[in-house]
Amino acid sequence: MSITSGDNYWVLESGGAAYALGVEPLGVLTHTHWGPKLPRLADYPKAARPAFQILEHEMQNLPQEATTGEAGDSNERTIDGISADGSLRGFVLRFDKAEPVTNGIDIDLIDTAQSVRVTLKYRTLDRFGLFSRSLSIRNEGERPITLDRVFSGTFHLPQLGDFALNSLNGRWADEFGKVRQPMAFGTFARESRRLTTSHRSMPFFAVDREVPGLRASEENGEVWFGALDWSGNWKMLAERTRDDRSMIHLGLNDHDFAWDLQPGGIFDTPRAIFGYTAAGFGAMSRAFHDYVREEVAPRRHYQPPVVYNSWCATTFKVEEDKQIALASQAAAIGCELFVLDDGWFSGRSGDDAGLGDWWPDPAKFPNGLSPLIDAVHNLGMKFGLWIEPEMVNPNSELYRAHPDWIIHFPRRERTLSRNELILNLGRLDVQDHLIDVLDTLLTNAAVDFVKWDMNRNVSEPGWPDHVGDQRELWVRYVEGVHRVWSELRRRHPDIIFEGCSGGGGRVDLAMMVLTEQTWISDNTTPPARLEIQEGYSQLFPAGTMAAWVTDRIKGDFLDHDNGDYSLDYRFHAAMAGALGIGGNLLEWSEEQRDTAARHIASYKILRPLIANGDLFRILSPHETPYSAFMYVAKDKSEAALFAFRTHVSRMGAKPRIRLPGLEADAVYRIEDTGVELSGRALGVVGIDLIMNNFESILWRVTRTG
Ligand code: GLA
Repeated sequence: MSITSGDNYWVLESGGAAYALGVEPLGVLTHTHWGPKLPRLADYPKAARPAFQILEHEMQNLPQEATTGEAGDSNERTIDGISADGSLRGFVLRFDKAEPVTNGIDIDLIDTAQSVRVTLKYRTLDRFGLFSRSLSIRNEGERPITLDRVFSGTFHLPQLGDFALNSLNGRWADEFGKVRQPMAFGTFARESRRLTTSHRSMPFFAVDREVPGLRASEENGEVWFGALDWSGNWKMLAERTRDDRSMIHLGLNDHDFAWDLQPGGIFDTPRAIFGYTAAGFGAMSRAFHDYVREEVAPRRHYQPPVVYNSWCATTFKVEEDKQIALASQAAAIGCELFVLDDGWFSGRSGDDAGLGDWWPDPAKFPNGLSPLIDAVHNLGMKFGLWIEPEMVNPNSELYRAHPDWIIHFPRRERTLSRNELILNLGRLDVQDHLIDVLDTLLTNAAVDFVKWDMNRNVSEPGWPDHVGDQRELWVRYVEGVHRVWSELRRRHPDIIFEGCSGGGGRVDLAMMVLTEQTWISDNTTPPARLEIQEGYSQLFPAGTMAAWVTDRIKGDFLDHDNGDYSLDYRFHAAMAGALGIGGNLLEWSEEQRDTAARHIASYKILRPLIANGDLFRILSPHETPYSAFMYVAKDKSEAALFAFRTHVSRMGAKPRIRLPGLEADAVYRIEDTGVELSGRALGVVGIDLIMNNFESILWRVTRTG
C-alpha cells in the first residue's frame, strides 16, 4: 500500500521514500515530511501551527503545500491570481476534502471569497521510487479571475538545514553544465523565457546537504530532487527564509504570463516528478532513467538504430546522387538508418528560404523522394528526414499566404533569427495545417524516422487576434506542439522521432513522450561533448541520447577540428549514447571506414546494455581530467566500462577507479585486459586507469562465476 492516511493526514510511500502532509488545526494543508520511509504512521510528524514569533504571522513559518501570501506571508507563492474587478488579489486556501485515487490522493482546498477550488494531486510512481504532483484551479464563481502564477508545487526541505541546489545550466553548444550553489538566505531563480525549455537551464533540481561530510556523492548521501514535465517556459525558485526554512518552487514561468480563468474554467499545471534518495546522485539518475524508459518513452526498451546523417557532409547542397553515394558507404560500415537532414524541401538552397513548404524541392528531386528512399531501403537501411515544422522563412509560400500565422506584435518589426519566424502553434488553424501537410508528406514518402528541429527562440511574443489574454501564448503554443506531434505519432505509429532544438534547446520529460531520441547538442567535440552528455545523464537515459562521430565542425561560434581526436576516441564518446555518424564518409580513408565498421559492430553488441542498463558515473569531466562511467546490465551479468582522458592537467595519469554496481560475490572478467576479480574487489579496490591525454577505453566486463 503506497498511501496511508490518518485523520486528515496522508503519507505517500514510494520505494524507500515518503512524502507526508496533513491539515493543521486552522485548516491549512501543511507539509510534514519528505525523506526516508519511516517504520510506523505514528512516526511521521503531525501538522501543527508553528511557534508564535513577534511581528511574524504564523503563516510565514507554516510549510504550506500551496503558499499564497495569506496573512502577510511574504515568502514566494505557489499560486497567485486577481479577481476581474481587481478587488481581491491572492488566495486564502482551506482544506475542503480529500479523495483517494489510483496510486494517489487528490486534496481539495477552497477560497470562499474568490470562489476558487484548488486540487492538489499527488501520485506515487511506485516502480521507480518516485512521486508526482500537480495542481488544478477551478473558478467556481461568477466572475473571471486572472491567474498570474501557477506553479506545480512548492517543495519544502527538512527544517533547519543547510542545503545546496545542483542544477544544469548552459547555452547553445554548451548545454547541461553542472552547477552547485549553496542556498544561503534569499531567493535565486532558474528559468526559461524562450518558449523552449532548456538551452539555458533544465527544469530540474537536486538538493543535497551543504554540510561537510554530508554532501551527496554519486553513490552516497541524501538528495531531494525533481523535474518538470513541460516543454516551454518554466521557473524554479530556490528560497531560504530568515527562519531557515528552505523551499524549491517549480512550475510554469510567471514572466509575461497570465491566464484568463472564466467561470467554470479549470487550469491544470504540468506535473513535477520528484523523489528522495539516501544513495546519492547516481540513484536519482537511475530512477529517472527507469521512469523514462518504462513509463514515459513512446517505445519501451527502445534500442536506437545506428544513424548516418548527411548534414555535415553536404549541408544545403543536397543532390540525389551524392546522397545515394553516402548511403552506400554508410550501409557498408554497418549503419542502419540514413537521415537526409536540412536542404531537401521546396526552395531550400540556404537557410533563408523554404521553411514552411514541406514537399520535395522539384529541382533537387524531380521524381520526388522515392528514388532516394528506395535506394536507401535497398541498401538495407531505414530512411529518415529532417523537418522544422514550427518555423517559417518569410521567403516561403506559406508565409506569403499566411503572414498573420506568425507569433508577432502588430506595428513592430518581426525579428528574424536564422532567417526564421515562428508559426503560432497556439492557433488551432495552424495546428490543423501542420497536421495536414506533415501527414501528407509522411504518407507520400516511405519515411521511417523524423528529426524534428526547432532552431530559434521567440521574440515579439504577441497573438493579436487571440480571444483572451495574449499572454496565454506561452502555454497554448506548447500544448499546440504536443497536439500536432502526438497526432502525427498516432497516424504514423511506426515512425521513430528525434527531437532537436539547435541541439539541446528543448529537452525535458514532456518531450520524452514524443521522441525516441534527442539531439542533445550541436557540439560534437569529444571532451566538451562528454561534459554535456554527463549533464544530460542526470535525468535521461543513454539510449535517448543521439551522439555523432563528426569531422571538423565549423560555425560562427564553434570551430573544432575533430580530427585532433582519434577516430577511436570520437567513436567511444558517441557510443556512450545512440551512436550516429556525421562525418563525410566519401572523404574517409579505407582504414578509417574499417575502424568505423569495427566500432559499429561492437556497438551493436553492447547496445542493449547502453540503452537499457544501469548507469554508474565514476569520474566526472566537470571535476576531474577524466570521464568514466559504466553501464551495468539489470541482471548484473555484464557491463560496459567507458573511460576518457578529457583534459590536460597536472593530475597524475594513473587514477584508480572503482567499478560500482556489480554483484559483490560474483567474479567478473574484463575482456580486454584479462583481469578477473570479484564484484566486491572491483567495487571497493578498483583498477588502475592508465591513459594519456585524449585517450579512451571501452571495456566489456562479463560475469564468469
Ligand atoms: C540545427 C541542428 C543541426 C542541423 C541543422 C540544419 O542546427 O542542430 O543538426 O539539423 O539545424 O539546418
